[in-house]
Amino acid sequence: MFGTEDFINESIGHLRSKIRGKAIIACSGGVDSMVAAALTSRAIGDDLLAVYVDTGLMRKGETEEVRGMLEDMKINFRIIDASEEFFASLRNVTDPEEKRKVIGGLFIRVFEREAKEFGSEYLVQGTIAPDWIESGDGVRDTIKSHHNVGGLPKEMGMTVVEPLRDLYKDEVRDIARALGVRSSERQPFPGPALAVRCLAEVTPDNIGVVREACFIVEDEIAKAAREGKMEIPWQYFAVLLPTKSVGVQGDRRAYGMTIAIRAVSSVDGMTATYSRIPADVLDRMSVRITNTMKDRVNRVVYDITNKPPATIEWE
Ligand code: XMP
Repeated sequence: MFGTEDFINESIGHLRSKIRGKAIIACSGGVDSMVAAALTSRAIGDDLLAVYVDTGLMRKGETEEVRGMLEDMKINFRIIDASEEFFASLRNVTDPEEKRKVIGGLFIRVFEREAKEFGSEYLVQGTIAPDWIESGDGVRDTIKSHHNVGGLPKEMGMTVVEPLRDLYKDEVRDIARALGVRSSERQPFPGPALAVRCLAEVTPDNIGVVREACFIVEDEIAKAAREGKMEIPWQYFAVLLPTKSVGVQGDRRAYGMTIAIRAVSSVDGMTATYSRIPADVLDRMSVRITNTMKDRVNRVVYDITNKPPATIEWE
């Protein structure tokens, strides 16, 4: 284990000397951005504004959960509902990198508005090492351009501060536990959110399907872990595929959508092994997903690939 207390103290000192004015941070509720916000708020107090953008692409109950966390942490924050803007801009966008660019671009727009109003000159980001390593640095190949790395800084004309830049996820979790950040044990969730788990067109309807499927996967895994059937995987979720397939509904032919379940164990997200979820737990998920969304989903598959050759997310 690395020197958690030393890191916290040094980081607060460093942030205090670096940020000479107001700063803004995007908080998704994930462990990285919440730890970055907690450290910065300890360093500069109310000169920090945390902004949570409700893109309409978040998981079930997520916005209210994040509101509660920010309130508990006594951080100065704002929640912006930009869901209509996000869905309108993602219409007909299917390429994964294009989705990330569109989402990154919209974040800039929302942020610019907020930053201007707050008068902030600094932008704090919860970027961690794998984010920029996998986004390509001129030496490595771009695997996925994680949106908190691409674009934001230069176009916004603010000084970027990245207190967690050299850390890996397990180290960030150690700091979160030490700081009492509630999302310390939360599984990672990508910045572009459910948009990269919806391989079908990104519409409120399709996002609704993948949101419900993700909720069922999370809920059934939590239940199975409580029953001692399995350990909680490093990351676990559902993906909506663009493939329709034939099924039966009562005695009638159905033509419905496909959900893929993904669960992996990993240390830092750079490599991963698919989780050996017990068959009865997979069974419960499959039955619950197809029962809950009878008219939409008629097939559930389980992803049995490691990273590499696959990545964790499907896009
Ligand atoms: P992949 O899919 O590249 O994911 O194996 C590794 C880890 O990164 C997350 N991920 C992202 N996080 N913006 C993010 O902030 C992104 O665009 C993004 N894409 C993937 C993924 O959920 C996994 O934890």
